[in-house]
Amino acid sequence: MNVADSEVVAAIMQTTDAELTDNLHEADIIILNTCSIRDKAEQTVQHRLQEIQALRKKNTLHSKLSNETASLNSKLSTLNSPIYGIIGCMAERMGQELIDKWKVDFVAGPDAYLDIPNLLAQALNGHKAINIQLSTTETYSHILPSRIGKSISGFVSIMRGCNNFCSYCVVPYTRGRERSRDVESILNEVHDLETKGYKEVTLLGQNVNSYCYKAEDGSVTDFADLLDIVASAVPMMRVRFTTSNPEDMVDKTLEVMAKHDNLCKFIHLPVQSGSDKILKLMNRKYTRAQYLNRIEAIHRILPTAAIGTDVFCGFHDESLEDQDQTLSLMREVGFDTAFMFKYSERPGTFAQKHLPDNVSEKEKIRRLNEIIALQNELSLQSNQREVGKTVEVLVEGISKRNPNEVFGRTEQYKTVVFPRGGMSIGQFVKVKVLEASAATLRGEIAEFCK
Ligand code: 5AD
Ligand code: SF4
Repeated sequence: MNVADSEVVAAIMQTTDAELTDNLHEADIIILNTCSIRDKAEQTVQHRLQEIQALRKKNTLHSKLSNETASLNSKLSTLNSPIYGIIGCMAERMGQELIDKWKVDFVAGPDAYLDIPNLLAQALNGHKAINIQLSTTETYSHILPSRIGKSISGFVSIMRGCNNFCSYCVVPYTRGRERSRDVESILNEVHDLETKGYKEVTLLGQNVNSYCYKAEDGSVTDFADLLDIVASAVPMMRVRFTTSNPEDMVDKTLEVMAKHDNLCKFIHLPVQSGSDKILKLMNRKYTRAQYLNRIEAIHRILPTAAIGTDVFCGFHDESLEDQDQTLSLMREVGFDTAFMFKYSERPGTFAQKHLPDNVSEKEKIRRLNEIIALQNELSLQSNQREVGKTVEVLVEGISKRNPNEVFGRTEQYKTVVFPRGGMSIGQFVKVKVLEASAATLRGEIAEFCK
């Protein structure tokens, strides 16, 4: 999501005649896009801030902009130290503290990106600038993102914010209320990716299944309708989406997925915990049985689908029985992949105010290791089931270990490595799977396609 947001910000910056550079030492303006989801994410940003401050003190960063014509550029070319700004969730959460403590020049929250040129102008005039106003309507729908991510697989945000208020989560506070973007601008962006040679698009939102756009004529497009429209609009591109909330994953969505070959049969369905007691404390809106009912629906309607999840341990009052419930649910579902975390208390959340962080760090680490070990087994089993099959792979890159090998992903989001055989990035190919580890499949080209 931050890659997608950075692409919006890059497009906004380009309206000021700024140019992108991926060389920190060449930059006149440095913008850090930040995440607050867990304390570790914020620590990473703080380390970057320390590094940048050190560079600034040594004054090893120099203005290199050559175009003196635009006013922004001419201002910048007189600087001998870069302007730097913090944007994203940490900007929203910490606001003025980033200016006071870290001496950043400007701060912009997730709904204030259109204001960045103004904030920058103020900063260039020597005034620290901040805009962390959240909006109930901003979707940046008229901004065509400037692509800075991978060149064959792109993101399109279909909505922003979240209304779920899971008790542990900072997102509703940092990204504001949920709002859906209009269908036309989503399609525009998808077509733009296609024109630029992208082969895959991932539709993004905190809770894509509650996408709902009401047009002026009163017509309503829900997520299943949107998937149907996007998949039909770009039949030669793979279409993925993330993230789905279990309580909103309706059969209609699964049926649309079954209808289109280009809708990848991979579903990321965060469960968080296998214990009803913990799910209730988390303010998740489903029980273990309801979650398993959705898994059953996926198997029934999409028999070839792979299922991924997010899970975390050590939340308030989590007992050993609760942990066992999580492990048993993981086994019962047999997740193909999982993102696994330990609970990190976030300032301002319901949990921080009312549900003490009472599982020790040592015990959280032990439980997390147990979860990771189990998932490694499940991922290995899942990958071993692929051995002997022929799968379609979109080639994404050259292997770092061996330049004669390429890697890519299957529809089910499994990574496959195989001898290059003249393939280039962005091509589809059928690969026979010969071997599997928990992380990767290895194979050989069976047939060229598309
Ligand atoms: N601590 C640990 N993990 C969290 N997540 C969200 N908030 C927290 C938190 N406070 C995890 C959830 C979510 C994923 C994006 O991050 O599993 O699905
Ligand atoms: Fe956070 Fe819950 Fe919203 Fe996901 S659904 S972003 S976990 S509040």
